Amino acid sequence: MNAPRITHGIVRKISRSLANCELLHVTRQTFDLELAGQQHAAYVAALEAAGVSVSVLPEEPELPDSTFVEDPVIVLDEIAVLCRLGAASREPEADKIAEHIAGIRAIHRIIPPGTIEGGDVLRIGKTLFVGISSRTNGEGIRQLETIVSRFGYRVVGVKVNGCLHLKTGVTSPAEGLLVANTDWIDPAPFQRFEILRVPDAEPWGANTLAVNGTVFAAESSPQTAALLESKGLHVKRLAISELQKAEAGLTCLSVLYF
Ligand code: GLY
Repeated sequence: MNAPRITHGIVRKISRSLANCELLHVTRQTFDLELAGQQHAAYVAALEAAGVSVSVLPEEPELPDSTFVEDPVIVLDEIAVLCRLGAASREPEADKIAEHIAGIRAIHRIIPPGTIEGGDVLRIGKTLFVGISSRTNGEGIRQLETIVSRFGYRVVGVKVNGCLHLKTGVTSPAEGLLVANTDWIDPAPFQRFEILRVPDAEPWGANTLAVNGTVFAAESSPQTAALLESKGLHVKRLAISELQKAEAGLTCLSVLYF
């Protein structure tokens, strides 16, 4: 089953307070906000070149991680699920994005004590693989399952250990194919897929983004990009060094839908 063509995307301008972002597994470094802005603009241009009409939301100066719009909302074909984020500093991001989602999909909400972040949700067809992580708890997954099962989705929990989100450690660059860091995510639930393991030198390489026949890969993971090309995929390398300092990747920077 081919994935539907992505026609629309939402991104948010980088917050001037990015340097105060949440960090779990990386050491805080100095941020170059100007370079971050340039890298973000190049990401938007790459989405547009792949046929996506992109809405750029305004900066949220008080919310350091708000440019990672993947985390506060899960947009499915039928509905959107507004997340209750697992990091307290990020909780307000859900209400901030809700107004932009309201016109697109009917909204369902994760409520306390559930927590879930979109970076933990890997959708493949009608299956949602959901990371059991420091940001997404069992109650959040249970609530998600209750909401989405009405629309024919199956929810499968996946253990995450050593990275922030499930999609830090595994993504699907093409139908039937995964790229994964199996030190960070449990591969057991993915047995029906072909799994490309990231080279040891590139533990962060698994976060790729497939957009209408192009696979975005981080410039910092050239061996992973070459591996994807060896599978016949069309790869677009993107520099995201300043976003990676914030423990972010390619998927975090947009919400994509049709
Ligand atoms: N800095 C990304 C996050 O911790 O959510």
